[in-house]
Amino acid sequence: MKIAMGSDHAGFALKQEVKKHLQEMGCQVEDFGTYDEKSCHYPIYAQKVTTEVVGGRADLGVLICGTGAGMAIAANKVKGIRAVTVSDCFTAKAARMHNDANVLCMGARVLGPSLACLIAQLFVETGFEGGRHQTRIDMISDIEKGK
Ligand code: RB5
Repeated sequence: MKIAMGSDHAGFALKQEVKKHLQEMGCQVEDFGTYDEKSCHYPIYAQKVTTEVVGGRADLGVLICGTGAGMAIAANKVKGIRAVTVSDCFTAKAARMHNDANVLCMGARVLGPSLACLIAQLFVETGFEGGRHQTRIDMISDIEKGK
């Protein structure tokens, strides 16, 4: 599984922890920055990571900022991206099973490292169920196309 990761300064420390956990799970993680805690702008990293996902170079993306909100707002501007801000294990799995979410956003000022790593693990391990959910994903794609 190829994972593209990114964060802003607020998410940097948590990104390092989640990256290590995903690598220990056997994921191939590419880190698109930021690489320190110097103040920066989260949309830059949302764009880098989502470009990898829609380009097929990554299977999933993980984005971390202070709340997970800004990253999700920015990521969802990109066609084909279904980004969700997640703070609990149930949503981590349901967002994959029902929504075929392809980008996980988390808040470093919201979650501790253990829960964030577990959420990332569940998100990566869980597959899309398809069926009736595919119909709804297709409807979302139609919204993107202005239909
Ligand atoms: C940075 O202070 C903060 O605004 C950012 O990390 C994020 O929480 C935005 O949604």
